Amino acid sequence: MSGLVKISIKELLQSQQPEEAVCVKGWVRSIRRGKGVAFVTLNDGSCFASVQIVLSPDLDNYEAASKVGTGACLAVTGQLVESPAAGQAWEVQAQTLEIIGAADENYPLQKKRHSLEYLRSIAHLRPRSNTFGAVFRMRSALAFAVHQFFQQRSFLYVQTPIITANDCEGAGEMFRVSTLDPLNPPQQAGQVDWSQDFFGERTGLTVSGQLQGELFATAFSDIYTFGPTFRAENSNTSRHAAEFWMIEPEIAFADLRDNCQLGEDFLRYMVIYALENCQEDLDFFNQRVEKGLLDKLESLAKAEFRTISYTEAVEQLHNSGQSFEFPVEWGHDLQSEHERYLTEKIFAGPVFVTDYPKQIKAFYMRMNDDEKTVAAMDLLVPRVGEIIGGSQREERFDVLQSRMALQGIAAADMAWYLDIRRWGSCPHAGFGLGFERLLMYLTGMENIRDVIPFPRTPGHAKF
Ligand code: 4AD
Ligand code: MG
Repeated sequence: MSGLVKISIKELLQSQQPEEAVCVKGWVRSIRRGKGVAFVTLNDGSCFASVQIVLSPDLDNYEAASKVGTGACLAVTGQLVESPAAGQAWEVQAQTLEIIGAADENYPLQKKRHSLEYLRSIAHLRPRSNTFGAVFRMRSALAFAVHQFFQQRSFLYVQTPIITANDCEGAGEMFRVSTLDPLNPPQQAGQVDWSQDFFGERTGLTVSGQLQGELFATAFSDIYTFGPTFRAENSNTSRHAAEFWMIEPEIAFADLRDNCQLGEDFLRYMVIYALENCQEDLDFFNQRVEKGLLDKLESLAKAEFRTISYTEAVEQLHNSGQSFEFPVEWGHDLQSEHERYLTEKIFAGPVFVTDYPKQIKAFYMRMNDDEKTVAAMDLLVPRVGEIIGGSQREERFDVLQSRMALQGIAAADMAWYLDIRRWGSCPHAGFGLGFERLLMYLTGMENIRDVIPFPRTPGHAKF
């Protein structure tokens, strides 16, 4: 090849210098053959757009080059010229073309519209499609934005453990981590003797980094985690994955209001970041995935977030006259049909639901003065439902201890968690935002399996 340095198609399409000699490398999206000419659409993932490569019989290997298949990997050098074709400023008149990796007609991503279900079955190849190119560029950009938001506010980024002995949410949805022989585990009094397991106790994959996040908040004031979490819940819905990424800020000297404010600021920041940095990909989602997506995001960037207590929400749902599959009853968790009715029909926008009955929420949430509800908050948004779940934490030693006892959590196992209430306790609060739920909201993609590279759901851990 010539001594030219490869440039990305993104850079190339922004070029201001026609006649420039360039080298591009990428994968063939399609090829069109005419009389004595062929046009290759080449994409390298750097941006949504592909570049058109024009092949003429002057090419040394024109015969082979004009027969490359969709999916083949090419290196092309040539001249950047103004494109006569509509919708693109530049094309490349090829001078050399190297077939780095050929592809035959069995390549599963031939140029046509494929269903999302089919693309899921070829998750190893779907990143090369328009839709998933856009999804994963946005995922990358927004992961960066998460750090930027918190770092600009001087939050400390803490990496909480993935293997843990604590079920933070108390829902019994932990995947077990064990090196014991499943056919012949050591036993004691008819039970598996976990003390002989690798860690000397029963351990699993974390469902949340919150508990350790709280420890750090009582040293660094404002912290956040951003990492994978795991839930062995057997819910085969479009919004649940067994492995998903969660962002969990925890703020000291803060109450539920401060927590809601942080959630609102954070979500708004993500929306504005996407609008400002992911225009090309958002245009695609707006046209092909969710009509009106851009209007929705632009109005969210300015929207007032509403707040309603759980008790008021239950009343409003009762008064709505709507019939639900699951009846609405004070003391029961809101089902997703109720959540969506609240955010889509009653508020037509984002809404915080606060102060849930204590019996349906985790042990660590702060008891309200009514002793019936806890200082919890969920943020609901149209189409997705719950996007954030959080609370003010119980900072009072005695109250926390008695709530743990009531929920059957052994104080001995959680002594370290109680310790921060023993020495230098302070009011603090935090929340978890599901990164995939955020991406669903920002892209309009309707299935969580389509915003994570290789989804893990009940029955599926392929790739
Ligand atoms: O409401 P959750 O269970 O809250 C917690 O885990 C708290 N410890 C967070 C905290 O206060 N630090 O989960 C938080 C968010 C949900 O609102 C949802 O966006 C997402 O995590 N989430 C899931 N996302 C995908 N698949 C699942 N199975 C999810 N479960 C929760
Ligand atoms: Mg929740």
